[in-house]
Amino acid sequence: DRIRPARRDLVGTRIVVTAGGTREPLDPVRFIGNRSSGKQGVALAEAARSRGATVTLIASHLDVPVPDGIEVISAATAADVQKAVTDAAATADITIMAAAIADYRSAEVSDSKIKKEKTGDKLTLSLVKNPDILAGLAASKPRGLVVGFAAETAESEEELLSLGTAKLARKGCDFLVLNRVSWSEGFSTDRNSVVVLSRGGDIVMKASGEKLDVAHSILDSLIPR
Ligand code: CTP
Ligand code: CA
Repeated sequence: DRIRPARRDLVGTRIVVTAGGTREPLDPVRFIGNRSSGKQGVALAEAARSRGATVTLIASHLDVPVPDGIEVISAATAADVQKAVTDAAATADITIMAAAIADYRSAEVSDSKIKKEKTGDKLTLSLVKNPDILAGLAASKPRGLVVGFAAETAESEEELLSLGTAKLARKGCDFLVLNRVSWSEGFSTDRNSVVVLSRGGDIVMKASGEKLDVAHSILDSLIPR
């Protein structure tokens, strides 16, 4: 077991983390979802808690348990996350949006199970865009820092950074935690590799390793500012 320093540098701070992946219902039994496990978000909550912060975790369908001492608010859909995070961010020192928010939801949610007898050989779903929660939060200029996440598929480090810089500018947040994903990288694994960009696009930190260690490094990169 690695020994992590017992830093208590976050005593008196309030940190909000969104984690997991939202599910947008189609009918009472089906949804549109994504492959986020919530591990990196939960690791951030755990790291912040262990350093003395008061932590609220807005949790969307986590594959992992949440350690004791963390306030958990369950949020199934993007709309639920938006409600919860808008509320929680108002009093937070740092809000970290690690959750994978569904970009689209079904235009109509059926109250009864969709039956293939009715829909026939081909089913076309109509989807509408969800609001960009992170951009909205950043634009509202809350008291604390606003940190986004971005998982990108990229051919090279250079392409990854250019996608990240563009996304950071679009979102208007203070920091963006960027990581590369593929069919095998990023999701569900216990390890992660990230680059933290500050507003303006400068690289302020790079880390690879277990998600809990990466979480501590991310917090380190946010705190001195
Ligand atoms: N996010 C959000 N609201 C959305 C979509 C994303 O708040 N409707 C947040 C995520 O929680 C994350 C950041 O925005 O912190 C980046 O998410 P990402 O999916 O990478 O960005 P998108 O703007 O959705 O762009 P893309 O088309 O690449 O998915
Ligand atoms: Ca997206």
